[in-house]
Amino acid sequence: MPRIEVENLTVKYGGRRILDSVNAVFDSGVHVILGRNGAGKTTLLRAMAGLVEFTGNIRIDGRSIKNLGRRELSRIVAYCWQNPFYGFIEVSVRDEIEAILKTLRVPGDRYITSALVPGHLMDRDPTTLSGGEARRVSLASILVADQPVWLLDEPFTNLDRDGIEALLKIVEHGRRKGKTIVISLHEVFYAHLLNPDTYTVINGGKTVGGGSWGSITNEVLINSGLLTLGDVCASLYNR
Ligand SMILES: Nc1ncnc2c1ncn2[C@@H]1O[C@H](COP(=O)(O)OP(=O)(O)OP(=O)(O)O)[C@@H](O)[C@H]1O
Ligand SMILES: [Mg+2]
Repeated sequence: MPRIEVENLTVKYGGRRILDSVNAVFDSGVHVILGRNGAGKTTLLRAMAGLVEFTGNIRIDGRSIKNLGRRELSRIVAYCWQNPFYGFIEVSVRDEIEAILKTLRVPGDRYITSALVPGHLMDRDPTTLSGGEARRVSLASILVADQPVWLLDEPFTNLDRDGIEALLKIVEHGRRKGKTIVISLHEVFYAHLLNPDTYTVINGGKTVGGGSWGSITNEVLINSGLLTLGDVCASLYNR
């Protein structure tokens, strides 16, 4: 199943280096990208989705994404927006979910929709949804196309307990299907819920740590402006 290789990835905006020679490999499984606000997580995911100009190389199963057409890349890579409202273009949730299947001409995986989107939302105008409802619909309207690579940009934001459970179920479903799933987070708490295969920490556009999830240390989290699980528990007990 899909292997993503990121090699010397550099992204500049207006002369400023947002990502600076990032190297990473993501195989089939679940991978978290951790980093403080502004570290470069979204830019990294968007580069892998072909949405950002970059120097260096990004290959999927050995093929440079620069050589893949937009439609072809969209069949392989799903990018789920950090802001769930960004991608909405249709007048109903139902149309929003059907749109990608029609555009990419794929049958899709309806389980993803049924697990994420309650039936009563189907006829709603997506722009009127609550934050958590919009997150569910946004995720479903992209992942329903069953792409082998999922890039989820802070997907837990806005979700309540039920929403988090639904998302964890979908990630497990994707993992069982052998997808390569890369999830950006600025809160380490969700990484513990995900129990990923690997982690990568970025800070100031550079990779500052990474490896198997079991090998993560508090030191790398603290140095990169992230709360540890211990910090979270300590603040609860000290109230
Ligand atoms: N199009 C752009 N033009 C100029 N600067 C940009 C652009 N896109 C991103 N940046 C800057 O690049 C840096 C990294 O942004 P990015 O969105 O990748 O961070 P992030 O790690 O996803 O942060 P957050 O946790 O807040 O989502 C930020 O300082 C951001 O302001
Ligand atoms: Mg971001």
